Amino acid sequence: METLTVYERLGEANLKLLVDRFYDRVFNHEQIAHLFKTDKELIKEKQRLFLTQFFGGPALYSHHYGHPQLRARHLPHAIGEEDAVAWLSCMSEAITSLAIDEPLKDEMFKRLVPTAMFMVNRES
Ligand code: HEM
Repeated sequence: METLTVYERLGEANLKLLVDRFYDRVFNHEQIAHLFKTDKELIKEKQRLFLTQFFGGPALYSHHYGHPQLRARHLPHAIGEEDAVAWLSCMSEAITSLAIDEPLKDEMFKRLVPTAMFMVNRES
């Protein structure tokens, strides 16, 4: 049986909704909003391209911006464990809001947890 990727199961429309809802929360979150200084639409577009490939779709982010090197790209931003937790809570709410099945929600969130914790680059 052919196994569909998370990206295929999610679909582009849901991925767009996810990114919109996620950054609406991030840009209003008292813990992490201050970290985001560039244009909201630009960061949404970058994240949409990144999550496309992260979830098994075409490598759109790499095509536009080169190797993700996500941890290095986050080093200019001081990220503590509490920031990663806040980021994940925004993501959890955004995933929960989607009309997709529960196993897919769980799988997406579980994949993002270690990536978010890997971005921590300062002592709390
Ligand atoms: C752990 C908590 C995290 C925090 C606090 C955080 C914060 C940030 C900040 C401040 C930026 C720069 C935004 C700007 O240009 O103003 C950024 C960029 C970005 N973040 Fe995160 N991030 C986190 C985790 C993640 C994770 C887990 C992913 C991927 C799943 C991710 C993907 C990205 C991408 C793709 C960019 C754009 C990089 C670029 O091309 O410039 N971030 N993040």
